[in-house]
Amino acid sequence: MSLFRTKNLDNMVAAAGKPGGLKKVLGPFDLILMGIGAIVGTGIFVLTGTGALTAGPALTLSFIVSAIACGFAALCYAEFASTVPVAGSIYTYSYVVLGELVAWMIGWDLLLEYGLATSAVSVGWSGYFQSLIGGFGLEIPKALSAAPGALDGVTTYMNLPALLIMLVLTAMLSWGVRESARVNNVMVIIKIAVVLLFILVGFKHVSPANWHPFMPFGVTGVMSAAAVVFFAFIGFDAVTSAAEEVKNPKRDLPIGIIGSLTVCTILYVIVSAIMTGIVPFQLFKGVDHPVSLALQHGGENWFAGFVDLGAILGMTTVILVMAYGQTRIVYAMSRDGLLPAKLSTVHPTFGTPFFATWVVGILFGLIAAFVPLNVLAELVNIGTLAAFSLVSVAVIVLRKRRPELKRAFRCPGVPIIPAIAVLFCLTLMSFLSAITWIAFLVWLAIGLLVYFGYARSRSLLHGVTQ
Ligand code: ALA
Repeated sequence: MSLFRTKNLDNMVAAAGKPGGLKKVLGPFDLILMGIGAIVGTGIFVLTGTGALTAGPALTLSFIVSAIACGFAALCYAEFASTVPVAGSIYTYSYVVLGELVAWMIGWDLLLEYGLATSAVSVGWSGYFQSLIGGFGLEIPKALSAAPGALDGVTTYMNLPALLIMLVLTAMLSWGVRESARVNNVMVIIKIAVVLLFILVGFKHVSPANWHPFMPFGVTGVMSAAAVVFFAFIGFDAVTSAAEEVKNPKRDLPIGIIGSLTVCTILYVIVSAIMTGIVPFQLFKGVDHPVSLALQHGGENWFAGFVDLGAILGMTTVILVMAYGQTRIVYAMSRDGLLPAKLSTVHPTFGTPFFATWVVGILFGLIAAFVPLNVLAELVNIGTLAAFSLVSVAVIVLRKRRPELKRAFRCPGVPIIPAIAVLFCLTLMSFLSAITWIAFLVWLAIGLLVYFGYARSRSLLHGVTQ
């Protein structure tokens, strides 16, 4: 049964609670800002264009469907985060609950969530960057402006700005220049200000005729768009990673998670309603900066420039948070023996996992350069939806196996709520394209091969009697 060997939960919980650990300084408001910082990015600024083409003006409903799926999964996340408040996110949770094989597969799957999300957001960043410099009459050579095949009828070789932003942010992370909470808060406020600006300025240009027909592609269109714009909500799990630093986790974690999700849902629904109200949705075809395009369409070029700038700043923080999360998961897996030891070495001067940071940055930078955004976003979504389903199942399993464990926050209605979360996630997954499913299954198969060919025998738990 060594496939299901687990880490000792009680040791980990005890270690996390020891004096000398991280300071408990965060309150509910900090957590909501942190959540919004990690959430608002390419999903709302870029993928709303694809979403509008798929669902029409009913894109607003797609956002609500995705938000419900995230909300149920978020309650499960909150229970885990408050029970096992240690670093490593669901990779660690599943190592203690479901055993090594599942933990490995989750870690492997998280490469799709965090790693490819950094690539996807870099591609979104590149679209807005090009729109911004375009305002000053500057242009990147077309061949270097997008991944091969990303633009209909144009020959492109690579997305150079996407690769460069990944490398610049990797350099910052590897030197230990992390955004401090204050810088993060400033960026988040700018991001929210830009979204509110769009709402205020865009509102006057809405012509309700554009909302008819509301649902041109029926329920299938709404659900397919929901499966894509689900990307816009990814990142709220970042709030759970702060579990050890929260003053009153029982009350504040759920407020932080549900609060940031609620704020983002309201903003997303209003933004998508206004966008599809200003521009007939068909015009979003091939557009990679739909929010500012809507303002340009309304003749508000000046405000469109502001939106470009805010979107670029906003997406920068999302890339930083995701890349940071990714390197820490690689680090945790390497420390457990499942990945090469070099990946958990810490740089003597910078105090960061330098090698792991550059491996991750270069790999996902190259992916950003050569793979179009829609392909990336769907892969991220399938990986994340699978991870959400597993967290929800793990909550039920842990309640059965360890009912006595102290849970600062308890997900209400177990097992019904986690079961609904799984159902919603699987339904959204079923609306993703066949090619995404094939790529996902191939990725998992490679993961199994690496586990049995490499990781299993090198695990620190190998040969340890349980
Ligand atoms: N939710 C994040 C974004 O939309 C990943 O950029």
